[in-house]
Amino acid sequence: MTVSSAPGKVYLFGEHAVVYGEPAVPCAIERRATVAVESRDDDRLRVHLSDLSIDGFTVEYSGSTDETPDVNVSESLVQAGIGYIDAAIEQARDATDRPDAGFDITVESDIPLGAGLGSSAAVTVAAIDAATREVGVSLSSDEIADRAYRAELTVQDGEASRADTFCSATGGAVRVEGDDCRAVKSPELPIVVGFDGGAGDTGKLVAGVRALREEYEFAGDTVQSIGDIVRQGERALAEGDTEELGRLMNFNHGLLEALGVSSRSLDNMVWAARDAGALGAKLTGAGGGGCIVALDPTDETETALRFTPGCEDAFRAELDTEGVREE
Ligand code: MEV
Repeated sequence: MTVSSAPGKVYLFGEHAVVYGEPAVPCAIERRATVAVESRDDDRLRVHLSDLSIDGFTVEYSGSTDETPDVNVSESLVQAGIGYIDAAIEQARDATDRPDAGFDITVESDIPLGAGLGSSAAVTVAAIDAATREVGVSLSSDEIADRAYRAELTVQDGEASRADTFCSATGGAVRVEGDDCRAVKSPELPIVVGFDGGAGDTGKLVAGVRALREEYEFAGDTVQSIGDIVRQGERALAEGDTEELGRLMNFNHGLLEALGVSSRSLDNMVWAARDAGALGAKLTGAGGGGCIVALDPTDETETALRFTPGCEDAFRAELDTEGVREE
């Protein structure tokens, strides 16, 4: 059996706009998806999702990737998770020239699914690494990132950036602009995450922004303005200026809200964080529900979020400098 893990992430800046070629800066956090892979004698895939947090519930699933999951909590999310695993294994088969390789796969994750913390990228990256190593091939983290991106593209109908998968494969803070992906230096960041217990549908949210952009020129301008915030944010990150980072995160949230990807619970958590004295707060990831990220060196934001209606969980998240790794 071969086991790999990969980290989730928060977006300091730039989600959605990155799909249209603007830069984005995601940061890996110390919450991981772990994938264990064991070769089978036939060409089938059997997947066991263990301890996967969905909508605040824990879901167990056992079955093959071509069966409909027999679960009643957020079935579509479970199915989406299985879709990523299927696409990841296709990439591993292709990379190792083993089109008929079959595997038993167990996924455990402490990253809530579909909540903006990069769960699907982490599962995809860890699955490609574990499945390729299981058949004796070791890929570089850049190749894993590239293959995970291609897997995401197939699951998300051709709408994905390289940001989530590159960040999960390499760890740390990264900058992604189109095909240009690189690590950036980051100071210690006082990251606090608030989770509303829900999830957003990335495909639908990305399609919604695309439709707005096609209909209104100012929606296109909004996307470009997010790019300007990211460029300014990169300078603040390089200078270790967390106060400026916070201000720019607030700005970024406002523009994401204008693009229609926030929600009442995300806005409530953002305002609770700001009222508690956070340096800044914004939704992270595709939005629609899920998580916000705030910067606060004190305990105030975490405490305030715990008492905020609609917030299911709040926790401090450390930057994870390690990407995909063998367990
Ligand atoms: C989703 O985590 C981030 C989006 O920008 C989509 C993508 O970059 O693929 C909304």
